[in-house]
Amino acid sequence: MPASFRVRPAVQADGAFLGDMVVDAANWRAGDGRPKHQVVTGSEHSRYVAGWMRPSDAGFIAEDPHGAPVGAAWYRMLPRAEPGFGYLGTGVPELIIGVRPLWRAHGVGRALLQELCDHARAKGYGRISLSVERGNFAATLYRSEGFAVVEAGHGRDTMVKRLR
Ligand SMILES: CC(C)(COP(=O)(O)OP(=O)(O)OC[C@H]1O[C@@H](n2cnc3c(N)ncnc32)[C@H](O)[C@@H]1OP(=O)(O)O)[C@@H](O)C(=O)NCCC(=O)NCCS
Repeated sequence: MPASFRVRPAVQADGAFLGDMVVDAANWRAGDGRPKHQVVTGSEHSRYVAGWMRPSDAGFIAEDPHGAPVGAAWYRMLPRAEPGFGYLGTGVPELIIGVRPLWRAHGVGRALLQELCDHARAKGYGRISLSVERGNFAATLYRSEGFAVVEAGHGRDTMVKRLR
């Protein structure tokens, strides 16, 4: 079992790691292996990291005992013209989360999700959204953290959590 991890706020220099996590999130299905360049050059996914870190961006990084990043959760305020998969409106941040394969199922994802939701609440947001493909077990984690499906799309659901 991996050793313990710590969680810290994300900074501008974490942009490249967030790019890796977008690729992991896009390739969540076992056997999915879309190469990084293919995922991050597609605007649907690149908008989750392009230009990181904007003033309205926020995120958290989980690190192993050596300080190497092993997971991340962050949110962005995407514009209506370039919405994310889980876009609900201009005032609702959308979150993305990913954990390195070796570190999955050890509580990293839940810890990151809780930090990020606490942060969004402290910033005054009333809701936070995400998009999850149907069949991804991550939806179980989201439900247990208070997210509920508000929109069903083609093969994916938009989930939202009320923060107050
Ligand atoms: C989804 C993901 C971010 C969760 O992070 P994690 O660190 O693995 O999750 P945790 O260890 O905090 O587990 C939280 C819950 O998820 C569920 N879970 C975790 N691993 C699971 C697995 N292998 N199978 C089924 N459920 C699992 C459990 O319900 C668990 O609850 P528990 O705490 O009661 O055991 C991570 O697994 C991941 O990066 N997956 C691939 C990319 C992805 O799917 N990203 C999300 C796209 S929407």
